[in-house]
Amino acid sequence: MKKILVIHGPNLNLLGNRETSVYGTASLDEINSRLGTFARQNGADLTFFQSNHEGDIVDIIGKSAKEGFGAIVINPAAYTHTSVAIRDAIAAVNVPAVEVHLSNIYKREEFRHHSLIAPVCAGQISGFGVQSYVLGLSAAIDLASTSQ
Ligand code: DQA
Repeated sequence: MKKILVIHGPNLNLLGNRETSVYGTASLDEINSRLGTFARQNGADLTFFQSNHEGDIVDIIGKSAKEGFGAIVINPAAYTHTSVAIRDAIAAVNVPAVEVHLSNIYKREEFRHHSLIAPVCAGQISGFGVQSYVLGLSAAIDLASTSQ
């Protein structure tokens, strides 16, 4: 069974009510349950983690290899644009990561156009709403099977 870690960054706990014209109306629980269904159909075992705290995200990434995760799906949210610490954590562990965004960050304010995280990820998916996560998970499952 491929173990995949799904990380949701700051404010994603508010999905469902948060800026629905940008992020849609699905709650985080609904997104996770959609991912759970996809995972069951594709032989993956998911662990979900959401935090509004940069250090907590750094900690779980740092433990991910030891805990046997074969890949990471991460929506770093606002930390995408600011966090050297999350970038360095991903670079430090030998676990491939896929960066996902609900919105198309390149269509939005200029400060969202740059990701500090993308250069240390296998790839990035941005702009497809909940489907970004499903596409990201699909890629992560493939990456996990080649890295395990
Ligand atoms: C986001 C895009 C980020 O710029 C923003 O800070 C978020 C969500 C997205 O999923 O579209 O919180 O990562």
